Amino acid sequence: MKYSVIIPAAGQGKRMKAGKNKQFLKLQGEEIIVHTVRLFEKDPNCRRIVVVANAEEVALMRTMMDKSHFEKVTVTAGGEERQDSVRNGLQSLLEDGIILVHDGARPFVEQKVIDELVEQAGERGAAIAAVRVKDTIKRVEGDSVVETLKRDELWAVQTPQAFQAALLREAHAKAEQAGFTATDDASLIEWLGQTVVIVEGSYHNLKLTTPEDMTVAQLISEERERNR
Ligand code: CTP
Ligand code: MG
Repeated sequence: MKYSVIIPAAGQGKRMKAGKNKQFLKLQGEEIIVHTVRLFEKDPNCRRIVVVANAEEVALMRTMMDKSHFEKVTVTAGGEERQDSVRNGLQSLLEDGIILVHDGARPFVEQKVIDELVEQAGERGAAIAAVRVKDTIKRVEGDSVVETLKRDELWAVQTPQAFQAALLREAHAKAEQAGFTATDDASLIEWLGQTVVIVEGSYHNLKLTTPEDMTVAQLISEERERNR
């Protein structure tokens, strides 16, 4: 099944402490965002790629996409929060089939997970990649534990998240109207009262967030390079 993808890359990367947007840090000589976009450029089922860049970096991002000879990509400006960036991306996408949203900062997503997400979203409306949590998770207020959550019910949610286009558009429009904000797109669908299906993803699909993630990312990208 065909789909299009929105790639939010308009953040600041503050927790990475690199002095610039983490999207432009390099792995194997290429920017993280280039690695991420290439996964979709190469997937024959992917029709269009909308990369959302922050307003000051749109020109830089376009240059980078052209340099890599990506043919499916358009670049558009993002907003204050991730949710604003995705909504902007949606506006420049005509897709009426399946839309994926995938963080620019996750360069290691695997093709089989993408395939499964697209299929599940086609059947059920919304599907998200997630992995079982390995740590025990506790809820804390101040410096003391309030409760210990049941680990076997807990999943760490990633992107890609896949949606029927009409559902994603409705969720974003209604959330904007109501002033409801969330850190991922699936939360908006849940807020509408609609079902979101879990697709078991991979622990390799890291969101590169803090400096130590880059050490692991180097190892994963070297391993992938060797196995190519
Ligand atoms: N993002 C975006 N627009 C924003 C904020 C975030 O497009 N206004 C994107 C980021 O570029 C990233 C993804 O959403 O690809 C996930 O966000 P996160 O990992 O939090 O990245 P940053 O916001 O850049 O990092 P930080 O929170 O550490 O500043
Ligand atoms: Mg952020």
